[in-house]
Amino acid sequence: MAKWAIILGVCLLNIVVAVDKNNFKSCEQSSFCRRLRKYQPGESTYHLDFSALHITDNVVEAQLINTQVPEVNLKLTLTAIIGNIFRVSVDEVNGLHSRYKPQFALNGDPQETKLEVVARNLEQVTVSSGDSKVVLTAKPLKIEFYTKDKLVNVVNSKGLFAFEHYRNKPAEGETDPQIQDDPGAWEENFKSHHDTKPRGPSAIAADFNFPNAERVYGLPEHGDSLSLKSTQQNNLDPYRLYNLDVFEYELDSTMAIYGAVPVVYAVSPQHSVGVFWHNAAETWVDIKNSKDTDIISSLVDFVNPSSKETFVDVRFMSESGVLDFFVLMGPTLKSAVKQYVSLTGVHGLPQLFTLAYHQSRWNYNDQDDVTTVVANFDIHNLPLDVMWLDIEYTEGKKYFTWDHIKFSNPDNMVSNLTSTGRKLVVIIDPHIKREGGYFLHEDALKHDFYVKNKDGSVYEGWCWPGSSSYLDFYNPSTVDYYKKLYSLDNFKGTSHDVWIWNDMNEPSVFNGPEITMPKDCVHYGGWEHRDVHNEYALAHTIGTYQGLRLRSPHKRPFILTRGHFAGSQRYTAMWTGDNDAKWSHLAVSFPMCLSEALGGISFCGADVGGFFNNPDTELLQRWYQAGIWLPFFRAHAHIDTKRREPYLFSDDIINRIRTALRLRYAHLPLWYTLFWEHETQGEPVLRPLLYHYPEKEVIDIDNTALIGNSVLVRPVSEPGVTSVEVYLPGGSNANWYDLSTFTLYHGGSYKLSVDLDTHVAFYRGGSIIPRKDRPRRSSTIMHRDPFTLYVALDNEKTASGTLYLDDYESYEYKNAKKYIYLLFNYSNNKLTSSLLDKTDYPTEEWIEKVVILGPPAGIKGAKLISKSLGTVDLETSYDKQMKYLTVRKPGVSVREPFSIELV
Ligand SMILES: *[C@@H]1O[C@H](CO)[C@@H](O)[C@H](O)[C@H]1NC(C)=O
Ligand SMILES: *[C@@H]1O[C@H](CO)[C@@H](O)[C@H](O)[C@H]1NC(C)=O
Repeated sequence: MAKWAIILGVCLLNIVVAVDKNNFKSCEQSSFCRRLRKYQPGESTYHLDFSALHITDNVVEAQLINTQVPEVNLKLTLTAIIGNIFRVSVDEVNGLHSRYKPQFALNGDPQETKLEVVARNLEQVTVSSGDSKVVLTAKPLKIEFYTKDKLVNVVNSKGLFAFEHYRNKPAEGETDPQIQDDPGAWEENFKSHHDTKPRGPSAIAADFNFPNAERVYGLPEHGDSLSLKSTQQNNLDPYRLYNLDVFEYELDSTMAIYGAVPVVYAVSPQHSVGVFWHNAAETWVDIKNSKDTDIISSLVDFVNPSSKETFVDVRFMSESGVLDFFVLMGPTLKSAVKQYVSLTGVHGLPQLFTLAYHQSRWNYNDQDDVTTVVANFDIHNLPLDVMWLDIEYTEGKKYFTWDHIKFSNPDNMVSNLTSTGRKLVVIIDPHIKREGGYFLHEDALKHDFYVKNKDGSVYEGWCWPGSSSYLDFYNPSTVDYYKKLYSLDNFKGTSHDVWIWNDMNEPSVFNGPEITMPKDCVHYGGWEHRDVHNEYALAHTIGTYQGLRLRSPHKRPFILTRGHFAGSQRYTAMWTGDNDAKWSHLAVSFPMCLSEALGGISFCGADVGGFFNNPDTELLQRWYQAGIWLPFFRAHAHIDTKRREPYLFSDDIINRIRTALRLRYAHLPLWYTLFWEHETQGEPVLRPLLYHYPEKEVIDIDNTALIGNSVLVRPVSEPGVTSVEVYLPGGSNANWYDLSTFTLYHGGSYKLSVDLDTHVAFYRGGSIIPRKDRPRRSSTIMHRDPFTLYVALDNEKTASGTLYLDDYESYEYKNAKKYIYLLFNYSNNKLTSSLLDKTDYPTEEWIEKVVILGPPAGIKGAKLISKSLGTVDLETSYDKQMKYLTVRKPGVSVREPFSIELV
């Protein structure tokens, strides 16, 4: 009975939750999605022909035949990629047109490795690489992936594979077998521009079955939980990946928003495996999770509960392009994420200031406003690193120019900022004002740098400046021109301390279909916008990145983007776009950034305070307390909102925000170290609990995140609460120390009392967290400050942690190995520091204090031993109330190995 009641409840709920999607297409309104979604599971019409099999060391190639259109020649290629990854591609041989493959997502060509043929006959071919094995079955097409002998992924198990090939339009009365029941498909997709040959529908799809998987994560960007929901069973549209400027985006939604990263991870506590769908066209993804029972299967369960098996099905559907995917064999979530990152790259170590606090608003009115805001931060002892200027700084929305009245002396404004260690970020969007006399527009027309209409004329759309055209970043000459625009000679008023914000690059077109560019627009190389859409923002930020490298070759660039795609992390940070000053938007920023982190994009944040509307003061304070725990930390607000710089509020609010900001600044050494480890080891900076704790209890937790492996945060994102629930993983032997009170907790579920001052954050017992605790105005002033080490002991009284440091801004760490990377290890009452890499940096930073949480009893003092200082007796003190031990003034440089023994 209960079961039926639940099913009924779910059905009713789905009818009630109807979303207003006026501007944006549903699957039903998207011709190819409607067409492909109608496929029913069953015998696939696709067969492999193993009589013409071609096998070399690294590659298996076979002809693929759709028995409905046997004359069409498709080729399937399987390769093994270094690091336990397989790649499968299907393309047309001698098709009417070539099909698009993303140009920028991959960080170079994936390196192939050897495939061994284990067995072959006309029905089946088995190949292996390391511990992994692939079985290709000919009739019908099926590809099975095994880890050792465990089946982890089956392609085309439901027979929903599809590959619509380019062909001539069928004559009147003739049916096209690929689109039998949807003749309208031809009309919608008939591509008539400069092509002499028509194209017609060219969608692709493949279904993946993950036996034993319990959840699926991935597919950023959606305003949704980390764990993806079943779609069809819940009457939801598939998750859509199509970069769009969605005004006040919906939460709990599968709708597309600004970014698209087509990677999924099918996870269980025991095993994880991923699929990266390498395609830049509009993509929809259906999910089916066996836990989300539909009526038919729950009827079966009802009769025979033992029939229930656990699985996740994922089906990707894309409008055009080559069918190309990578299987990330795991076997853990951590290894699958690293495999994805090995394909698409990492964010290089950013400058330290980029990890500090950013203050933005649409708009700071003029240069005096900028100067005054900074002065007010200083008066109130609120740390601040970066001021931001939105579109109003320009002369009439013409990028690379300044409003000469409001910003008459940008050089002076910038030097005022940099004299106190601050930086400036200004916005540059990809739409260009169509105005005679604007150098950029005239150059772009003259040299043919714009995206075209299908008839070959320059495309015009409406954006901030009014009538605009869009730079075609697929054209190498455009990029070559564009990157030079950032030179200090051209972009007067900027300096080596001015960095760039690329917004509106989905691209946003106010009067375009779905607020973006029409799909039949044409890019360099003859590609339709349809083929390349999701890659446009990435191409834009590559241009900016090259520009900043050229302008300031000695400094690591900082770029913030809204639109993004797989691989964007190599060039830019991202934020979650135009969120709303609502508690739900504060809450969702964590699952959204966790999802991005698994999608390779660690440098993620959300507008603190919410972009639209006015947060009440409770929400604003909670947002600061939460925002300090996301990698990118910026406050931003819409032009129609009330001013909300933190110093404008009452003292108690300023004090709480100051406490939050100082916690962020104190942890900058940790964030910086994590970004180094992101660059060098491919680790995400922000991690879901499951990343380190393969426990059933954590699989759906996404209101809690790990910063590296040492800090656990569970931001308070509920209004007016006096308590919150938190789950601390690791079991009863695990130690977790509240990072404000140092209270010791063990693994388990807790209901904790909170007031407005409470940060629900913990240090993991077993970790050593490097901090800089001297309050400062900006991170620049902290470069030489000494460290305090927080040693949080585990149950065995041991702990370890790392620290990375360098000059915090240049490429010397790469070019000249000028950096220090330390391992701190505490065991047997002794803390040792050793160099992990044989490198050095002539720093003056030193160890000021060691704080030991959960210390042994009876300690009277400590002994420091280092080469330059010899043996030094140190004082210790024990705080009886908070139960921690302080070792005072070790005074030792971080450049030399040392040990501190408690005695
Ligand atoms: C720079 O600072 C000086 C001194 O406070 C001030 O007089 C000047 O107006 C500032 N410049 C700008 C452009 O805000
Ligand atoms: C820390 O030192 C102990 C004792 O020498 C050793 O067993 C342990 O592996 C070390 N930990 C790390 C992380 O190196």
